[in-house]
Amino acid sequence: MDRVIVDTDTASDDAIALLLASLTDRLTVEAVTIVAGNVAFDREVENAKYTLSLADAADTPVYEGARRPLVKEFEHAANVHGEGGLGGELHPETGIDSADGFGPAEIARRCRESPGEVSLLCIGPLTNVALAHAREPDLPDLVDEVWVMGGNVNCRGNVTPAAEFNCWVDPDAASRVLAEFDVTLVDWGLSLRDSHAGDDFFDRVATFDTDLADFFESATAAVRQDAPGAATDGITQPDSLTAALMAYPELRETVSTYHVAVDSRAGLTRGYTSVDVASVTDGEERTRVVEAADSETFRDVILAMLRERDPDSVVA
Ligand code: RIB
Ligand code: CA
Repeated sequence: MDRVIVDTDTASDDAIALLLASLTDRLTVEAVTIVAGNVAFDREVENAKYTLSLADAADTPVYEGARRPLVKEFEHAANVHGEGGLGGELHPETGIDSADGFGPAEIARRCRESPGEVSLLCIGPLTNVALAHAREPDLPDLVDEVWVMGGNVNCRGNVTPAAEFNCWVDPDAASRVLAEFDVTLVDWGLSLRDSHAGDDFFDRVATFDTDLADFFESATAAVRQDAPGAATDGITQPDSLTAALMAYPELRETVSTYHVAVDSRAGLTRGYTSVDVASVTDGEERTRVVEAADSETFRDVILAMLRERDPDSVVA
């Protein structure tokens, strides 16, 4: 697996994930598709283009996708990521045009043209993937791997007590994708346990005199303000943890397969992820849940990327 489409609602942690996916030799980001989520859609589009330019990957095509969830209304998370989504700093416009085509159509086209060769790194609400599946019913058999940052496996949510943001924004899409695809899931609980970056981490980044270190510090500035649901004294890095686990199998310590379903009803349990760890339902056990990751090596990968643009140097 190395050809990857990154589907993202580009804000702070998405941007670090996009840097990692672009700078590792383990993955080849052949396209980026944008989905409604963290902040205003057009800002998400520009954030992706700016981030790709920082990774010397400005030629990676950015396709605009769904500007709203399939069914539900939602609110952005600008309170978490800062105005504009990258910590509050509005970087200069890149002037890069979006690629011609609709994101979901592009996902379907690329997977149809190269069966079994293209993987999806999904680090936003799953609207685009659900729409791609509606266009191409065979997509689950055509795609290689599908990695999803989403859900909260038997733990508190981060946008409501019941739900994690990506599943809450578009629970109808999340429900369909987890029912129809073989997904590898990186949830909010794992992010809290194994992706934390505390003050000691930021102290080390502050010693790096690099553009990526400066970007990391500014992009995460708002998240460090102890946003609701985030870990105090530092940040969690759900999207870059997902990208790292996809790129580096060495970081995957415990992975279990369960029946996972998402509550698409409106109201109190909207977006809740039911994870049947005790096999008490008759649901198909098809979702691979990463339950433990090598958090120290993950942090070293991010530090190596920020220090010398070479995340692979840490993993033999
Ligand atoms: O709940 C965390 C997820 O929601 C991350 O992908 C973050 O970027 C937001 O999209
Ligand atoms: Ca995201």
